[in-house]
Amino acid sequence: MNHHTNDLYGIMGDPVAHSKSPEIHSLFAQQTAQNIRYELIHVTAESLENAINEFKNKGGKGLNITLPHKTKVINFIDEITERARVAGAANTLILKNNKIYGDNTDGIGLMNDLTNNYKFKITSVKILILGAGGASRGIIQPLLKANPTSITIANRTLSRAEELADHFSSMGKISTFQIDNIPETEKYDLIINATSAETINLNRTFKINNINDTTFCYDLSYGRKLSAFNQFCLKEGASLSINGWGMLIEQAAESFYLWRGIRPTTNEILQKLRQPS
Ligand code: ATR
Repeated sequence: MNHHTNDLYGIMGDPVAHSKSPEIHSLFAQQTAQNIRYELIHVTAESLENAINEFKNKGGKGLNITLPHKTKVINFIDEITERARVAGAANTLILKNNKIYGDNTDGIGLMNDLTNNYKFKITSVKILILGAGGASRGIIQPLLKANPTSITIANRTLSRAEELADHFSSMGKISTFQIDNIPETEKYDLIINATSAETINLNRTFKINNINDTTFCYDLSYGRKLSAFNQFCLKEGASLSINGWGMLIEQAAESFYLWRGIRPTTNEILQKLRQPS
């Protein structure tokens, strides 16, 4: 008997119905000739721990964890990788030897999208990150490791930006601003929107004055259309303004690799799933 036939994977979130992950992982499985099943599992915060244990007990091999559970899930895992610990969040669980291993592929997903798909070189660039929540926390270490000239965090609540800067201060210096108070004279090579402002409140855009014609604007969120942030950046003359589709596919590729030991190539799938802007 082949124990690897139709190994079971899935994604847990709330809401989860619109997740693209089943489609992405099924394309990866086809491409790499792997037999997997991948389920969408709607799980509320209160039932997260039970749902994970049930999934493990029925023989599941791996899980993606999405909003709003990425932070909370850390309480329910047996071993955590360094990058997930630093990010304070896990998006990938590996279930084996009757244990739950937690990892986080979001940071590497962003890095792979920037550096492989867009050929953007992080070395010697000035980076501005908008937001100081979980999404920001997950991308700071990989960005710092790539040796940018500087990282600045701007947040609505300045104290949260300062806390995040302190948290990473042993890895590099990070400056902070209140989001409406970034000096106009500061222009950035890369501006990353890591706030949840649009998801929560569709009309919120940021009036930042820190974009010039070489600025690359990246929104970690993804949707059918370019975000309001993306559109604002284009109006301000940004050289490129994109959303997080590429990151979504790249983080999935890394999860798939952790589970199956085979790294899918993402080019084709990116072309296929890249949303019209
Ligand atoms: P996530 O895990 O998505 O980062 P989070 O931890 O709740 O979610 O963080 C949300 C981020 O979006 C925060 O930086 C938040 O700013 P505050 O720290 O001031 O709350 C930011 N954010 C959310 N709604 C916003 C809005 N309407 N305007 C500006 N920033 C907003």
